[in-house]
Amino acid sequence: MPLRVPAPPLHPAGPFAIALALLLPACARPEPAAPDASRTGSADAHDTAGLRGVLVAAPGVLVGPHPADDAAFAALRARGVRLIVSVDAVPPDLARAHTHSLRYAHLPISYSVIAPERTLALAALLDAPPGAVYVHCHHGRHRAPAAVAAALRGLGRISAGQAEALLSRAGTSTAYPGLWQTVRAQELLDPARVRAVDTQGLPRSVPPGAFTQCMIRADEAAANLELARAARWVPPPAHPDLAPAADAAQIAEVMRALPGAQGAPLEVPEFRTLAALAAERARRLELAILAGQAQAADAAHDDLEATCAACHQATQ
Ligand code: HEC
Repeated sequence: MPLRVPAPPLHPAGPFAIALALLLPACARPEPAAPDASRTGSADAHDTAGLRGVLVAAPGVLVGPHPADDAAFAALRARGVRLIVSVDAVPPDLARAHTHSLRYAHLPISYSVIAPERTLALAALLDAPPGAVYVHCHHGRHRAPAAVAAALRGLGRISAGQAEALLSRAGTSTAYPGLWQTVRAQELLDPARVRAVDTQGLPRSVPPGAFTQCMIRADEAAANLELARAARWVPPPAHPDLAPAADAAQIAEVMRALPGAQGAPLEVPEFRTLAALAAERARRLELAILAGQAQAADAAHDDLEATCAACHQATQ
């Protein structure tokens, strides 16, 4: 099992993030968080390189987790990568990529299905690259391997069996049947359509919508909580800045704000109930951590994670 890498700090200081913060008090980030910068910087190079679990999907096509720091970008560059494609909702770190002479294309995809135009765009990028291409989502397990498998299938560069094998090697969860289904149903793309894609015109960075912004914040806090749990809910020495109770409180707040966030799938009948349940469980976790009750915290954490998964299933 590859270690889960802590979520990178977003780069909230840009003008766009500030505009979002004004528009969306619920899920926008409170303040450009200076302490966050240290969260990813302290562990050893291998842990922070963001390059655990990189797979070679085809010659010159690598797939894995988001590059979290300079070491990761440098390692990609050293492996011949010239273009990075993110299918994650989090906008890429363009400035850092630029300092390593790496170009980005940003093609966010959901966990439920890969839109055909995304597959076509990715196929075009993989078809005539300037060097090796690195495709990443957040953890490198679900969306990026699926997108790459679909695009390479579309180009006829791998067989259906190899495409499924790639998802298995990456550990793509069967809890996301839409990703598997997209790969299985992928047909050969018309080469003329692939060539017609204006690859230079593809977006370099797409700002997340309000609802996705909520999920990104919940996910960052959830990654911190995993580290905290491994350290029995006491901030681990390598991450003295972790504040697990605050992270739990953060998730509770995000979940309360969820139904009001633009783009929330309110048409899903269980949505409000599950959001409320997640908020309640996050609050229970916060209280257990504050009370120093590790076992109760474990139980609340299990329940909370089950609620995340239940809602992702319900909203597929
Ligand atoms: C009440 C429903 C609900 C709950 C509870 C919930 N989520 Fe989500 N989440 C969603 C929906 C809907 C999406 C969008 C699914 C898609 O991409 O198709 C989503 C997407 C995500 C994404 C992907 C964002 C992106 O596009 O990159 C992450 C990460 C995530 N959730 C993390 C979490 C975590 C961690 C928890 C629990 C602490 C959680 N979610 C709880 C509904 C929920």
